[in-house]
Amino acid sequence: MSDTSLQSQADALLHEAQQDTTDQQTFHQTYLSKRGRLAVLMEQLKTLSVDEKKLAGKTLNTIKQQLETIEHKKGQGLADSDVWTDMTMPGLQPSVGHIHPISQAMNEITQIFEKIGFIRVRYPEVDWEWYPFDSLNMPKDHPARDEWETFLVDNKFVHPTLGKMVLTPHTSNGQVREMERLNHQPPIRMINIARCYRRQADVTHTEMFHQFEGLVVDKGITIQHLKGTIDHFARQFYGKNAKSRIRPFHFQFTEPSFEVDFSCTICNGTGKVHGEKCRFCKSGWHEVGGAGMVHPNVLKAGGIDPDVYTGFAFGWGIERTYTLREGLKLDDIRLLYNGDMRFLEQF
Ligand code: PHE
Repeated sequence: MSDTSLQSQADALLHEAQQDTTDQQTFHQTYLSKRGRLAVLMEQLKTLSVDEKKLAGKTLNTIKQQLETIEHKKGQGLADSDVWTDMTMPGLQPSVGHIHPISQAMNEITQIFEKIGFIRVRYPEVDWEWYPFDSLNMPKDHPARDEWETFLVDNKFVHPTLGKMVLTPHTSNGQVREMERLNHQPPIRMINIARCYRRQADVTHTEMFHQFEGLVVDKGITIQHLKGTIDHFARQFYGKNAKSRIRPFHFQFTEPSFEVDFSCTICNGTGKVHGEKCRFCKSGWHEVGGAGMVHPNVLKAGGIDPDVYTGFAFGWGIERTYTLREGLKLDDIRLLYNGDMRFLEQF
């Protein structure tokens, strides 16, 4: 007899005793009496060597104590296996998870645009630099590229025509890809939602974030269509009183270009709360991203004749668009991604 087999017999014994439903007396007889099952195991100690005996003796002693506790409880009418149930107690709510706030926002944004005929697409988040840069009217070594603080993929392979591999710093890489997908044939109504990456990490930036990009190309598309679409989104996402405004800006891939602001959800665009300056926006407006009329060179890069077709595009950050609606002034944007349930459970 080895001490390991004794050990497993002892474990089995305890397990059975814990399931036992007999009364105290019977329990005592079965497990703890002179001829009981523990005594049978004790008997086997004799067959072990001195060292083994020490160890096995210890185990049996602890088991004895546990058996005695069970016996004692049975004396008080509390069998170990008895679970007393009060049927009148309210049930325990199982905890139910929910979709991450940023995913919720992505779903909502998709629906808003799908209802007005946009098609949601996805394009590579690791892409050839041609798509986020060259095709967007930013030739090699163009200084505008610096604004995107791009991560380059560290591989030796450089595509002969599409260039190096990068982590996409904006969803605009989807513009020419969409023109290609549709065989260079407008109409195009795309909504591209994707992760983006930039070399920036502080309390207001994460290296990974999300953007959604709209692109519309057809005959006779004007700035009015762009403004109308932005206004429609603002009303759907922020509520019927929400307003938008566009301000002149510069992007290589749109002409003219704009920055897009939405009216503040806290002060309703007035810049004032109870007569004092709104602390959330300070001015009544929040900037969310860029937009503009698609540059002819971009249409050309996508094989579309700019003399026949025009288009507009916009690209906004999801994190910002969403936190503005919730009136959330996050001291640290990284909270959205560090997986802390105490934070996430609030949404
Ligand atoms: N891609 C731009 C950015 O990341 C935003 C933009 C998209 C501007 C489309 C104009 C048109 O800042």
